[in-house]
Amino acid sequence: MSWWWAGAIGAAKQQSENGDAFRVHRSVALVIGVTGIVGNSLAEILPLSDTPGGPWKVYGVARRPRPNWNLDHPVEYIQCDISNTADTQAKLSKLTDVTHIFYVTWALRFTEAENIEANNLMFRNVLQAVIPNAP
Ligand SMILES: NC(=O)c1ccc[n+]([C@@H]2O[C@H](COP(=O)([O-])OP(=O)(O)OC[C@H]3O[C@@H](n4cnc5c(N)ncnc54)[C@H](OP(=O)(O)O)[C@@H]3O)[C@@H](O)[C@H]2O)c1
Repeated sequence: MSWWWAGAIGAAKQQSENGDAFRVHRSVALVIGVTGIVGNSLAEILPLSDTPGGPWKVYGVARRPRPNWNLDHPVEYIQCDISNTADTQAKLSKLTDVTHIFYVTWALRFTEAENIEANNLMFRNVLQAVIPNAP
């Protein structure tokens, strides 16, 4: 058992013993790029009870279907392409409890001008879908 999973189980047990298993999370993360190097680490660490502000509720976004190796993470997985404005609006504007966005994704194009255009659109799509409905 990995150290983080042992911690997650311990946190859940402690919550249950304290009778607050169904409490509302104070910190709610939206991790954009949850299957990436940085995003996957966040998905492991944020739900732990000893993480600052935690345990966090975590939504995770990526384009691919949820991979098997990600199934153990206590994450609400959302398959969404944030470069697609309609897809982003449809899936992320439903979220009404996000307190923090962890934007850990990027797009690589052929020129710096294309990089700026693509990354600008992705970031704008997320903010326009999430911020109006955030607490
Ligand atoms: N890796 C590092 O050591 C490191 C260090 C410091 C800073 N950073 C920065 O952190 C950011 C992420 O880096 P990383 O190395 O973690 O990247 P990565 O491993 O390439 O992961 C990118 C993530 O974004 C998702 N993604 C890509 N395009 C998407 C789209 N259009 N819609 C939704 N999800 C999309 C990918 O999943 P899908 O392909 O399934 O969509 C994946 O989950 C970058 O800005 C990088 O510069 C990285």
